Amino acid sequence: MSKLLVVFGATGQQGGSVINSVVNDPELSKIYRIRAITRDPSAANAQALLQKGVEVVKGDVDDHESLKQALQGAHTVFIVTVTVYDALLKPRELAQGKAIANTAVAAGAQYLIFSTLPNVTDITKGVYSNVPSFDVKAEIEEYIRTLPIKSAFFAPGTFMQNYITMMGPQPAGDGTYSIAAVVSPTAKFPLVEISEDAGKYIGAILAEPDKYEGKVFSAATRFYTYDEIAQALSKATGKTVKYHQLPVEVFKSFLPTGSGDTVVGMLQYIQDFGYYGPQGAELVEWSVQNARGKLSTFDEFLARQKYTLQ
Ligand SMILES: *[C@@H]1O[C@H](CO)[C@@H](O)[C@H](O)[C@H]1NC(C)=O
Repeated sequence: MSKLLVVFGATGQQGGSVINSVVNDPELSKIYRIRAITRDPSAANAQALLQKGVEVVKGDVDDHESLKQALQGAHTVFIVTVTVYDALLKPRELAQGKAIANTAVAAGAQYLIFSTLPNVTDITKGVYSNVPSFDVKAEIEEYIRTLPIKSAFFAPGTFMQNYITMMGPQPAGDGTYSIAAVVSPTAKFPLVEISEDAGKYIGAILAEPDKYEGKVFSAATRFYTYDEIAQALSKATGKTVKYHQLPVEVFKSFLPTGSGDTVVGMLQYIQDFGYYGPQGAELVEWSVQNARGKLSTFDEFLARQKYTLQ
């Protein structure tokens, strides 16, 4: 009998990638059957999962009864929490992560895979203690490690998707385009093609859960500087795209109210300490070698998206 893999965030990029990787993998699709958890099973992307033969169940992470039903019979659970950049980011996300993990253990699940991030306060020795979007995930990871259940972790880098959406090129007014942030043009960012490749890292864990127990996949194809990102965008679009390093206050004025300190703190942390800390290069190299399948470069991603600038 196949094992029940319960996937949270099933209509999001990470959960969706996990589902596709299992459904399209001749070996994994024999081992696992999937239950996709979503807030709205009537939505088009949830309905699309039904077409793939996936069970779709309504689940509300803030409702214990709903979580219990979602996790009934689970063998392996993929957990991704929802980050909302406001004053309640940390308590809200922590409660969410713990509730899913606790309910999974109570339901008799065997294995948790959690979408985590590094402990910034620890890596920076307290220099940056204002990156709750990272630290809260590190805290949930630590909590999961104390539970009586096997676990492994997926720590995604910066999403390639962001550089053509919210952080994408803006017209500079002279026929060229600019991308902008507060960091040096040579600061290094680990880029991951989240919607295609998340499932390749998590698929490795699903294929050999005992081998990867306790491990963290620092998930990125490789590191890119903003200058390299601008060059790739130029090459893909045939337009000139340049990176501009902005003063902190100017950059903050472009961000949604309330999110400025967290976003700037995160970018400065990445510049000064590296996204995954001082061992980042080795951690990414290990993850690339252990992923299940070939990972996308940023150029390949842009080509597949047929990304253009008018
Ligand atoms: C993160 O690091 C800080 C500083 O070392 C430590 O106090 C804290 O417990 C760590 N958090 C987790 C969740 O490991």
